[in-house]
Amino acid sequence: MNTAQPLALLGGLTAGQFMKRHWQKKPLLVRRAIPDFVPGLGRSELVDLAGQEGVESRLIVNAPQGWKMRHGPLSKRSLPPFKQKKWTFLVQGVDLHHEGVHALMQQFRFVPDARLDDVMVSYASDGGGVGPHFDSYDVFLLQAHGQRRWRIARQKDLSLQPGVPLKILQHFEAEEEFVLDPGDMLYLPPQYAHDGVAVGECMTWSIGFRAPQQGELARELLLGLADEAFEGVGHALYSDPRQPAVASPGAIPPSMSAFARKVLDQALGNPQLLDCLLGEYLTEPKPHVWFDASTAHVDLSAGLRLDRRSKMMYDHRHVFINGESFKVGGRDARVLRSLADGRCLTAREVQSLSPNAKNVLSDWAGAGWLHAL
Ligand code: SIN
Ligand code: CO
Repeated sequence: MNTAQPLALLGGLTAGQFMKRHWQKKPLLVRRAIPDFVPGLGRSELVDLAGQEGVESRLIVNAPQGWKMRHGPLSKRSLPPFKQKKWTFLVQGVDLHHEGVHALMQQFRFVPDARLDDVMVSYASDGGGVGPHFDSYDVFLLQAHGQRRWRIARQKDLSLQPGVPLKILQHFEAEEEFVLDPGDMLYLPPQYAHDGVAVGECMTWSIGFRAPQQGELARELLLGLADEAFEGVGHALYSDPRQPAVASPGAIPPSMSAFARKVLDQALGNPQLLDCLLGEYLTEPKPHVWFDASTAHVDLSAGLRLDRRSKMMYDHRHVFINGESFKVGGRDARVLRSLADGRCLTAREVQSLSPNAKNVLSDWAGAGWLHAL
């Protein structure tokens, strides 16, 4: 993507300017971000998705007695009638299930794939919404159908109402208010308070992000290191030819704790292994994602494209796909990186790969991770 080209999607800013001025910093309202936007995903398709096992969905009703929430799968019959006001249902990860939504998400790849998470789609009856709240991640709220009134605030007081089954701000005081029409979009940085209320029936697409959390990332990497450590660090036994005789046998010898520190440093001191584990972690498919594997031979000579569920990234030594890492160099590395960036390869690019890399691509095709053009 040309990050220096002004984009209607970002209100005429280049991706570079947007990242510098707004990303993680301040909101941006874009009128006609996608002019004449036709969502290509209707209410009934979304209802069907929300009813599926393995698709994450929620029903939120703003009833006179208070907020109510139910997790999916949501059968069609269990939903209130659309004539009833003040309810909404939300479906997570729609990009995994719908080609048009997946295609839309590609427009946001001026942010690294390692940060891009999914597209959540909500459908609300008149007056419906999830209440005033804040999110921990950046979000682009694209109005897909109908109108929604957004009220937003930079407020510091992020205390939540107690005893409510969803996150609702206790003291929300809007600073700005906009009504979004189809194709309009609002970007909000993390922790920015917001409340979106449907004006008539409305559908909103939220392009969401993820950010590894310190403790969780450390845990994942250490678990991976633990699997590798036995082979990687070696099998040598602790030895203590200089151990003096002791009068207090219960005390752990300092040389034993030094040995423990040394083996851990050794395990952590392999930067290649850490890079591998990070790439594998970042490309790990989400729970409930499965691919259509096949044993039939797939002819990739005319070119190929990644399956929309495939996650592919790279670093300077490896390519990663769906939780696996491959060490690559030279021309193969250049072509496979271009597959990760562009999500497809031409016949010529496939032709230029080594026999080894072609075999790997055939394996990926067999696993359903990519498809022939
Ligand atoms: C919605 O689409 O109703 C909620 C999106 C959000 O506020 O994050
Ligand atoms: Co939100």
